Amino acid sequence: MEATPIAPTTDAEPGLDGEGERHAEPWWKRAVFYQVYPRSFADSDGDGVGDLGGLLSHFDHLTWLGVDALWLSPFYPSPMVDFGYDISDYCDVDPLFGSLEQFDELLIEAHSRNIKVIIDWVPNHTSERHPWFVDARSSRSAIHRNWYVWRDPLADGSVPNDWVQAFDPSKPTWTFDDQTGQFYLHLFESAQPDLNWSEPAVVAAMHEVLRFWLERGVDGFRADVIHCIGKDPALPDDLPAGGGLPHCVLNDVSVTHGHIRDIRTLIDSYGGDRMIVGEVYLLSTESVATYYGNNDELHLAFNFPPLFAPWRPSDWSACIASTYAALDDRHAWPTWVLSNHDNPRHRTRYDFAASLSGETEYTTAKRSEARARAAAVLLLTLRGTPFLYQGEELGMIDAEVTGDRRVDPGGRDGCRAPLPWDGSADHGWPTVTGLEPWLPFAPDAEHRNVADLRSDPSSILSLYRALIALRHSSEALALGTFESLDLPDGALGYRRARNAESLVVLVNFTDGPVDLSEYRQGLLIGMPVAIASDGLAGTFTGTLGADQALILRS
Ligand code: NOJ
Ligand code: MG
Repeated sequence: MEATPIAPTTDAEPGLDGEGERHAEPWWKRAVFYQVYPRSFADSDGDGVGDLGGLLSHFDHLTWLGVDALWLSPFYPSPMVDFGYDISDYCDVDPLFGSLEQFDELLIEAHSRNIKVIIDWVPNHTSERHPWFVDARSSRSAIHRNWYVWRDPLADGSVPNDWVQAFDPSKPTWTFDDQTGQFYLHLFESAQPDLNWSEPAVVAAMHEVLRFWLERGVDGFRADVIHCIGKDPALPDDLPAGGGLPHCVLNDVSVTHGHIRDIRTLIDSYGGDRMIVGEVYLLSTESVATYYGNNDELHLAFNFPPLFAPWRPSDWSACIASTYAALDDRHAWPTWVLSNHDNPRHRTRYDFAASLSGETEYTTAKRSEARARAAAVLLLTLRGTPFLYQGEELGMIDAEVTGDRRVDPGGRDGCRAPLPWDGSADHGWPTVTGLEPWLPFAPDAEHRNVADLRSDPSSILSLYRALIALRHSSEALALGTFESLDLPDGALGYRRARNAESLVVLVNFTDGPVDLSEYRQGLLIGMPVAIASDGLAGTFTGTLGADQALILRS
């Protein structure tokens, strides 16, 4: 019972404390990020699609919640085949979302509230309607021809290799261009041709895009599928070990690291406060870790194995251990994400309705909510930067999207449902047509909405707010060491410590109580509860309730 399988991580800057330390650490290590998916956050013009005006008028929610930084998903001009991840102009705002002036206003508003803003930068591909691609496909001698990846058909007329599309593995990543008689590469939709980063003019142009936004004042970038930008010029077939996964998932070639080092140099040249977090969609944390380089590549990288981990203590302790092991070796700072716009929301994923025994007071709905609360405690107390996805603070589940309401080529509509602002019939999304917004609301929006949960101090929304506030006031949670506790089956526990402060986090993954009264001869009993996922106050009795998570002061 006393073993500590994970050696305590070391303090980030052991020699510093107090104010010196506050200044020594970059802001993004302490920050709680909040992903805004603009189409679904808030609408200002009644067209049923969220926009920058909507975001501008709902900043109060963000300040009330206490988040430190926003990641804005794409708002650039786009034909919207991939809802903005197919960009036709990197340096403007799509009229659907507003204008550049409004973006500037938004930056001012955010900064005046001490909220940083990072924006999505999509370096792997453009829209097929981007003027660069329109020119590239006009002739083999076009100026922009080599900005994309073109190959001749094989001798029998077939595609150049066996790569398959990310959203539909039954389709090749190649589209034949009749006019010029060659295939072009697209890891995603055919409307998203891959840029050729081995062409220096592409590198220069994409660096210009970064400069454009850095000069406008953004605090950094979230780089879309950044691990894909380098390509092995031989474009070899996928290895059989790929197990049918789309190639872009597996793409991990050394040339990409050189590109990222150049990007980092550019960003750092704007002063130490700007940052880049990369979407490194590789399914091993060891591989993700290499994208931090020697503190000369990404400042942060998303780490997806925990997002895909089932809600089980064994899976989570394995993910936590492998994350800290892989990143600490490189002095790389971890990130934690439970939900985003590409995957079913975690409350949907963690819902074990089918496994419940039936004859119990403890109903499915209660349990699902309790689990989401416990997950919030976990997410906001781990060592590393947490990223929230809009709506998770409400404990949202996915909307049911059927028939012609389905619009996403990747089938991800459910997690992109509009954020319900109140319990009225339109949930704060009145439209000029009187119809619903672009996607239906999640089923429980009538009660699970910002206004109702905000006025309830015991709601999950209030819990998120309290967790964020505690994280802000606690050096142990923000930057402290992590030490795993060896708890009985069903529970996961760890200690976070910094200077004189020490907190213990306990998470029960089961629907029954877990007895911790004998852990280290009752060491935990009597510790004051700082936050309980279910609102419990007082001191720890020794028993962790069903699906309960606690933060104790030790
Ligand atoms: C990852 C983004 O998160 C996703 O939404 C998008 O479809 C692909 N990259 C392609 O840009
Ligand atoms: Mg709108």
